Amino acid sequence: MSRSRPDVLDATELSADPRFVEAAQRILADLVRGGAALGWVEPPSLPEVADLLGHVAAAARAGDGALRVAYAGDRLVGLGYWLRYARPTHRPHADLEKLAVAADAHGQGVGRALTAALIADARQARIEVLTLDARGDNSNALHLYRSLGFTEYGRLPDFVAVGPRRYDKVLLMLDLRPRSGS
Ligand SMILES: CC(C)(COP(=O)(O)OP(=O)(O)OC[C@H]1O[C@@H](n2cnc3c(N)ncnc32)[C@H](O)[C@@H]1OP(=O)(O)O)[C@@H](O)C(=O)NCCC(=O)NCCS
Repeated sequence: MSRSRPDVLDATELSADPRFVEAAQRILADLVRGGAALGWVEPPSLPEVADLLGHVAAAARAGDGALRVAYAGDRLVGLGYWLRYARPTHRPHADLEKLAVAADAHGQGVGRALTAALIADARQARIEVLTLDARGDNSNALHLYRSLGFTEYGRLPDFVAVGPRRYDKVLLMLDLRPRSGS
């Protein structure tokens, strides 16, 4: 991939396109196979990814989510999304649930561009607090989120289970509420 900036697009209307779903599943499954901390232990199947993207797109249409993708030319190189919390008392807030960049495109600004776009979408939707969690050993992701303003509000020690291994779950938040007086 060239180091020119990726194109970051809203993918709400792409979610039913089988080529898009296949490309997304390939990225997610390859990353999980390589040990990425994306919440899956086994690589997600095509139907599972299709269901997930359909669910996120439906939420996005309702103003309860955002789905962003990054292309290098015509190749999908990354995706990410957030969803508004379902719990009635948490409705002003959303959780950035998955951010994934194809392994051969890491370190080229794709993850940063996707996260920045997702934050902008959250502001646009008047989300008050955007949360996310990351595995404690995911230093690239933690560095990225902190550099975009997320701060740690908690940590569950040895909480993430991958077979016999245990990792901390690091809880991060970005408060998007305008400060009083500003
Ligand atoms: C975490 C992830 C999304 C970052 O995406 P990316 O496109 O590689 O990240 P960027 O190129 O935008 O870089 C962002 C920061 O991460 C760091 N970084 C990311 N990948 C790196 C790499 N391969 N080598 C060195 N630094 C890297 C850099 O420090 C960079 O910070 P900088 O801009 O201050 O230099 C990507 O590595 C990924 O998909 N990982 C597997 C899935 C995952 O862990 N998702 C996050 C779950 S919480």
